[in-house]
Amino acid sequence: MEIMKEKAKIDGRTGVLGIIGMPVEHTLSPLIHNTLAEDLHHPLVYVPFPVALRDRLGDAVKGAFALGVQGLNVTVPYKKTVIPHLEGLDPLAEKIGAVNTLVRGRSGYIGHNTDILGLERALELRGIILRGRAVILIGAGGAARAAGYLCADRQVRRLYILNRTPEKAIALKEDILASYPGCHITAGALSAAAEIPEKSAAAIQCTSVGLFPGVNETPVDSSHFFDKLEFAMDLVYNPEETAFLRRVRQHGGQTENGLQMLLWQAVRSYELWTGSRISDEEARRVGELLGASLRGKQHG
Ligand code: ATR
Repeated sequence: MEIMKEKAKIDGRTGVLGIIGMPVEHTLSPLIHNTLAEDLHHPLVYVPFPVALRDRLGDAVKGAFALGVQGLNVTVPYKKTVIPHLEGLDPLAEKIGAVNTLVRGRSGYIGHNTDILGLERALELRGIILRGRAVILIGAGGAARAAGYLCADRQVRRLYILNRTPEKAIALKEDILASYPGCHITAGALSAAAEIPEKSAAAIQCTSVGLFPGVNETPVDSSHFFDKLEFAMDLVYNPEETAFLRRVRQHGGQTENGLQMLLWQAVRSYELWTGSRISDEEARRVGELLGASLRGKQHG
């Protein structure tokens, strides 16, 4: 009976959404988007499309467009390399140089970056308004890059970029300054964390340190650093509380893991694809499902 019911949901009018990347087996995006489509009674299915051969990415994107695929997410390792295969870019996505969402244009897809919109929303929900704040980024990879451009675009008072390899932090600073010359940025090594002259900064942990199974690791260890934080978000959501967030909490700071960002980047993508507005209440419902699914997977 269950199988019959599932089959009946797909008919000649069903639209297709999906995610391209490699690997895509563990993605939580199908759970989020298929739940949204079901709840909102939209005739859509969201499926993973593994693109195993990197040199066939262009074929995959053009093929998806020709097949009428309504929207795509793009994940590792294609967030940058997909750009030459697109018809155009949203201005902020263009500055960052990375996209995670493709929306149909006239003769190809337009690239957007909802990772940053999801991050902004997750911060907002905790009352963190970037404008005028001091923000400390830990990391200088792809995730930190998106967070850094968001901070610059939303006019933080000062942005600190700290990374294990300081040269990469400095390179990210230079890149951001090229687009936002007025932004105040200090870049350096993780060891500089203790000397940051702030009292109530917000930190965004953008490295994979602390991710299962290395759950006791934290990219910064200095107590002086944790004393400066009023709030910290860790983009990691598995485990729910990383060693980094535990330290923040122990030093009296507020904390948030990466689950809301994951949820809200998906919500923003879904809104772009369908033109519908997802209510906070609906997003919360999906967020609860997502949390339950993660706990069920026991760190998988
Ligand atoms: P992502 O796209 O998830 O940001 P990435 O681009 O590979 O991934 O970047 C990984 C980030 O985590 C980098 O800032 C990396 O520091 P380096 O630039 O020095 O490599 C950081 N990172 C990874 N492992 C780390 C560790 N054990 N300690 C500190 N930083 C680490």
